[in-house]
Amino acid sequence: MDLAPASASAQPGELTVLGLESSCDESAAAILRRHPDGRIEVLADLVLGQTEAHAPFGGVVPEIAARAHAEAMDGLAAAALAEAGLSLDALDAVAATSGPGLIGGVMAALMTAKGLALGAGKPLIAVNHLEGHALSPRLSENLDFPYLLLLVSGGHTQLLIAEAVGVYHRLGSTLDDAAGEAFDKTAKVLGLGFPGGPALERCAEAGDANRFDLPTPLKGKPGCDFSFAGLKTAARQIWDGLDAPSAQDKADLAASVQAAIAASLASRTRRAMAQFAEEYPDVDGPRPLVVAGGVAANRTVRTALEAAAAQEGFRLVAPPMKWCTDNAAMIALAGLERLARGDTDGLDAPARARWPLDAASAKLAPVIGSGRKGPKA
Ligand code: KG4
Ligand code: ZN
Repeated sequence: MDLAPASASAQPGELTVLGLESSCDESAAAILRRHPDGRIEVLADLVLGQTEAHAPFGGVVPEIAARAHAEAMDGLAAAALAEAGLSLDALDAVAATSGPGLIGGVMAALMTAKGLALGAGKPLIAVNHLEGHALSPRLSENLDFPYLLLLVSGGHTQLLIAEAVGVYHRLGSTLDDAAGEAFDKTAKVLGLGFPGGPALERCAEAGDANRFDLPTPLKGKPGCDFSFAGLKTAARQIWDGLDAPSAQDKADLAASVQAAIAASLASRTRRAMAQFAEEYPDVDGPRPLVVAGGVAANRTVRTALEAAAAQEGFRLVAPPMKWCTDNAAMIALAGLERLARGDTDGLDAPARARWPLDAASAKLAPVIGSGRKGPKA
């Protein structure tokens, strides 16, 4: 069942979309307007994190996340409208992440969006969260297709070619843990707290990255997939084998793990850059390598990617951190792009734990749990 067509905007050719996000541990609402000249204006961009609620458990607890999203979503949507100075009537559509992610959380934004769309008689757009990330660099930069995207967060580690809106080609993804998970789980072993990535980076500042010999995952293996589970286990074994580890031991191990993750991301991304260059030999100037996701905040990772990009004739593009991590502006942008194509969804749009972005992976049989066919796919 499709809802009413988009209502007329304030100005002819203008499109205004509310986007909602709740697929992991950030509740978010944003309103974007596309002007007739193509310029995107961010009218509101609100994010409510849940770090304190999950910290005692050392990781995101899905049930706690779902409840917190359910409590926050309506208020965030109202606050975004208030900040933009708009009523629901001024919207052309309501967009929400409808997967992939923690299913209880995904349902919060999706159901809120359905209610708002139904109540206001506006179209609903069910957005793939990964498409939001894939389009996020276009929030801050006039970036043309095609471009290579490395998405590195606590939930995803993927290399994608963004060919056009709605057309993505996945070159590789993690076979087990996401890169952010490797940071978080190692930080937990070292007793560094949650979220582990930033804590591990701070601890590593005083450490010697050459002290411990860690395996380089998938070294020399063809393809662009990633694997971090072995690295995490190796780090745990080293830690358990240390007799009364000192603060220096801790910093050295943190620095060694960080360097190994960064080296692995860079070497697999180099393979993807070579593949991209082969597929698109006629791109003028340095080709763009976009990095997005929370792990993009890590300086050692960025430095390694910058060096790899330079070696392969690419330039590294990193959106501002607020749009690298989970946010609703990227969901509203994906909604705008879809709406502009007349591509809207019915009120029966499902919430999906798993929703691969590219058509080829979407055909693979789902395997619930983890890995490239699971929720991280
Ligand atoms: O994109 P994000 O905010 O949320 C999702 O997972 O979707 O990414 C969070 C992940 C966490 O695993 C966190 O530890 C990691 O990004 N992270 C970092 C840093 N900042 C955040 N990892 C390493 N170094 C950092 N500075
Ligand atoms: Zn995300």
